[in-house]
Amino acid sequence: MATLPSVAGIGLRAPHVARVQADRPQLGWLEVHSENYFVDGGSALAALEALRTVYPISLHGVGLSLGSADALDGAHLKQLRQLAERIEPALISEHLCWGRIDGRHLNDLLPLPFTPEALALCCERIDAVQNALGRRVLVENISSYLRFESDVMTEWDFVASVVERTGCGLLFDVNNVYVNATNHGFDPHAYLEAMPGPAIAEIHLAGFDARGPCLIDTHNARVAPPVWALYRAAIERFGEKPTLIEWDADLPELEVLLDEAAIAQSILEEAHAVAL
Ligand SMILES: [Fe+2]
Repeated sequence: MATLPSVAGIGLRAPHVARVQADRPQLGWLEVHSENYFVDGGSALAALEALRTVYPISLHGVGLSLGSADALDGAHLKQLRQLAERIEPALISEHLCWGRIDGRHLNDLLPLPFTPEALALCCERIDAVQNALGRRVLVENISSYLRFESDVMTEWDFVASVVERTGCGLLFDVNNVYVNATNHGFDPHAYLEAMPGPAIAEIHLAGFDARGPCLIDTHNARVAPPVWALYRAAIERFGEKPTLIEWDADLPELEVLLDEAAIAQSILEEAHAVAL
């Protein structure tokens, strides 16, 4: 099983697969959405099986609904386990959110109330997922546009508690921290200070939409300057971490993603030079 190097990678999306296969750009690793490969065969899976011999792969899930009160979806979990056996990913991650209720699946990463009950529920389900997969998973902090009156702890204490109680890893999305800090009016550096640095096994960076009354985490733009600044602060605090450029909508040419990855790589290298 490959490990992820502490360098920059990109989220691989279908329109870029052929180019990446042909050109093999200088990238430390690739991340794909697990659910896109819940198939028994076909060209997409064949391409991923070829690419896994060139790049370490991180499997990133969007549909397990870790925070739902519904029972865990056993069929989904089985497909994830089968994909993991086939691809042997360096990491497997999911979002700290919910998206399933009364058997209906919603295509959104919905926020959780930050309560002891929600914390216990998430931890129980993360334990179950880690047991079913026989390995540690990472959970990712999400972006949100509302908070609950029932919240009794901060988001950063909730996230840190999940990691502490389950021993899971953390996929720390720096853009999501910035989006939430802006939308909910908190200091993003307070969030950083509460994170368990050694548990952070991957970082995400993406672009948001700032045209409305709040920031929307659209993954359709370059990383914003204040998010680069927060990322630099995170790397200075936690050390070099595998860092992913996520781009999901209005997908540009591959060169744009490679350019964003090169910026992340230069920040990682600057931090490394300072640390020496
Ligand atoms: Fe993310």
